[in-house]
Amino acid sequence: MALRWTSTLSIGVTELDAQHEELFRRFDRLLDAMLAHDRSEASHLIAFLQHYVRDHFAAEERLMREVAYPDAALHAAEHVAFAAEIDALAHLLALEGASARLVLRLEREVTGWLHDHVYSTDHALARFVLARRGEVPLASESASAARERRTPEA
Ligand SMILES: [Fe+2]
Repeated sequence: MALRWTSTLSIGVTELDAQHEELFRRFDRLLDAMLAHDRSEASHLIAFLQHYVRDHFAAEERLMREVAYPDAALHAAEHVAFAAEIDALAHLLALEGASARLVLRLEREVTGWLHDHVYSTDHALARFVLARRGEVPLASESASAARERRTPEA
């Protein structure tokens, strides 16, 4: 399945939407580089992700507090787990450089993140935020149901 930014993923907060779109763009760059047998993009993506997990997650968690999001604790726990994985990848990069093993692990982790978190957990947050603003009807599905659904609407 192609992993693409779509408007259904929009949270309606310009800063957060721009950060999500940027992550998809950066990941595309990694995939293009992998197709060209170029591993150098891996270190760029890891450097980007180290900032991303700090700034973007903090912004999302601020938004969840502002809207009293009921699934905030579960959502933030996923952030913590991904940040730990990025730390582990940065350590591995320092130890062995952009090895084939590291590039494959990075590709797998970010694919999983986009699929399981951005398409599902963040999508559920977006529905909640937009519903609070009266822009969409309040979704009856919970974040866990959205997680099981795993793919955004076309
Ligand atoms: Fe998130």
